[in-house]
Amino acid sequence: MKLSKIVIASCLVLTGFGASAQKAARDAKMDAYINKLMAKMTIDEKIGQLNLPSIGFDVTGPILSQGVEEKIEKGMVGGVFNTYTPNAVRKLQELAIKKTRLKIPLLFGYDVIHGHRTIFPIPLGLSASWDMPLIQKTARAAADEATADGLNWVFSPMVDIARDPRWGRVAEGGGEDTWLGSQIARAMVKGYQGENNDLRREDAVLACVKHFALYGAAEAGRDYNTVDMSMRKMTETYLPAYKAAVDAGVATVMSSFNEINGVPAAANHWLLTDLLRNQWGFKGMVATDYTAIMELKNHGMGDDAQVAKLALVAGNDMDMVSDLFIGELKKLVQAKKLDVKYIDLACRRVLESKYKLGLFDDPYRNISENRAKNNIMNAEKLALAKEAAEKSMVLLKNDNNTLPLQAGKKIAFVGPMVKNQRDLIGNWSGAGDWKKAISFWDALQAQYPSNKFTYAKGCNILDDKALIDKLNPHDAQIVLDSKSPADLIKEAVETAKDADVVVAMMGEAFGMSGEAASRSDISLPANQQNLLKALRETGKPIVLVLMNGRPLTLQWEHDNTAAILEAWFPGTKAGDAIADVLFGKYNPSGKLSMTFPRSVGQIPIYYNAKGTGRPFNDEQKYTSKYLDIPNTPLYPFGHGLSYTTFGYSAIKLSKTSIRNGERFTATVTLNNTGKYDGEETVQLYIRDMVGSVTRPVKELKGFQKVFLKAGESRTVTFNVSTDDLKFYDINMKYTTEPGDFKLFIGSSSADVKEADFKLL
Ligand code: BGC
Repeated sequence: MKLSKIVIASCLVLTGFGASAQKAARDAKMDAYINKLMAKMTIDEKIGQLNLPSIGFDVTGPILSQGVEEKIEKGMVGGVFNTYTPNAVRKLQELAIKKTRLKIPLLFGYDVIHGHRTIFPIPLGLSASWDMPLIQKTARAAADEATADGLNWVFSPMVDIARDPRWGRVAEGGGEDTWLGSQIARAMVKGYQGENNDLRREDAVLACVKHFALYGAAEAGRDYNTVDMSMRKMTETYLPAYKAAVDAGVATVMSSFNEINGVPAAANHWLLTDLLRNQWGFKGMVATDYTAIMELKNHGMGDDAQVAKLALVAGNDMDMVSDLFIGELKKLVQAKKLDVKYIDLACRRVLESKYKLGLFDDPYRNISENRAKNNIMNAEKLALAKEAAEKSMVLLKNDNNTLPLQAGKKIAFVGPMVKNQRDLIGNWSGAGDWKKAISFWDALQAQYPSNKFTYAKGCNILDDKALIDKLNPHDAQIVLDSKSPADLIKEAVETAKDADVVVAMMGEAFGMSGEAASRSDISLPANQQNLLKALRETGKPIVLVLMNGRPLTLQWEHDNTAAILEAWFPGTKAGDAIADVLFGKYNPSGKLSMTFPRSVGQIPIYYNAKGTGRPFNDEQKYTSKYLDIPNTPLYPFGHGLSYTTFGYSAIKLSKTSIRNGERFTATVTLNNTGKYDGEETVQLYIRDMVGSVTRPVKELKGFQKVFLKAGESRTVTFNVSTDDLKFYDINMKYTTEPGDFKLFIGSSSADVKEADFKLL
């Protein structure tokens, strides 16, 4: 070995050793600080640290926290959420620092879900970008704005794998797939906390992975509903995304509302202690969800005292809004029904979080009017919002190259979303201001001032009064047009008749997805369908642009329109981004992260299902199928078109049989066979043909985003290792089993080339 190599090698060893020694020294310093502080604390002060009330601008549950300022002064609060802006945060922090005996600073949390002030597409949309550096950047930008606004803790990422689009909260997550969801979890944690998890940097926040666990598997897609699931299914499918966040160093975890196999997550010792801390090695802090401890009473887990004890002993450190830790824990200790060690442990974890943020050195560290002025909604963030919106849009169909639109043609823009602003930033849009979102119509006027585009509203976003009455108290701002539905449609049809192409912009009101927004029918609202049917009668080609928070059932729309662009709720820069995609300034590249069913009757439907003993066969009666619709979805996981076309060669494998520990490459040549430059997401799936337990028909194991100029081609190479073949065997051991495998490469889970290989 050359000397230089020896020197480098020994430096690496020393650096590795040095880093762990440095960490040990930092931990020892933190322990000493917290030991000293806790030695001074009364039991009331310790319990106070476990209290997390809401004060400020928003509420997300039926209960409101009461008397929070007085409680802060009395040392009965460890952190608050729903307060932001430097001014508002400073006032509350001053109460803690100036009025309490030990001057312990507060945590300031908030639901920063897809941006703080600059709003990016909803997470389901962002996940359709399949672009991890982009997703990480959006989280980074959100952390920068949140910290500039006084916050130090965000209740994100939400990584609940979900396969039931009736559940409104699919909007907040990364879709149905475990592998993709795990990549997103990692990217978001790194984005919020910074690449090295150095929480002391002024633009880093504590991230909070939620909702632990399995919240996305609520029965029948009804929010907060029961979850009952085999250990195998949760281990294989639902838990890895949370684990990925933990492995990425996420600082906090939020326990979920749902029960799991008979024990609510908030009272679940196995989940919060045995699994999360003991098996996964999570060292941070756990907070409950909103009033989740109080809700344990509704679950039938006992009275106030019982549920407070259950929640603490299970492993929750902070009580969000229930006030039951401050109400019950001391009495339990005095009655010798609770070991004080649990309070000490939880208190220590809360204090550690504050210490890691550097709040003991500077409780006002996130409060800077200057940063707020310079960093919030600056040009860089708005440009990122536009890029993210463009990259998240999915072109679902495009017959006869109807898109991109040609600006010189006569185009009629019709529908309740054309001039809409209220809904563009979607649900859980934090401190985002919908009035700052760019409507499509405004963007169009700005970009094409001299073109004569026509417009007709065509219908209200909803006509269903009962639904409007549910949404409007929550700021939906749905105002019915003074014209009757029939007149609105008539006007739209007249407008359409005069055009070469009709662009119908439709979707959900933002409150139709998100929390407590489950739907049993996930089609477009009936009045929008009526408009579309009337437009269809004109015989003009229809481009449907959708803004919504979940997969919708779109069979009729698919059969009767020329093109469909899924834009999700695109965020602050919605209008600009949609205009750029429609007119071809940006060639769409998004791919679905969640299956679009043909009908709600197919739900749950997801690409990596098991094969069954009687796989579908049209010629035989006794096979697994529906009598009335195909088994296949309308749009499969991974689907998304481009204005150009991509050709895939056959797959070449560097080896067709491998031994454990070996690697091989799988290669295809990707060819841009169309007229436009464009980006393709090349997807790799694997199937294990024989196992000690049944294996899914396909599992995503990798992807590459490849940009090709028109006519260009490139070799795309995936490295496959035997780690990619591991699964939980019959004994729940994570391992490989020898045998036959199939490898697929393609443009969606349903459009692939395949090759065979063997693990010896
Ligand atoms: C939601 C959480 C959210 C919390 C605080 C709850 O209702 O389930 O996702 O973080 O409220 O606003």
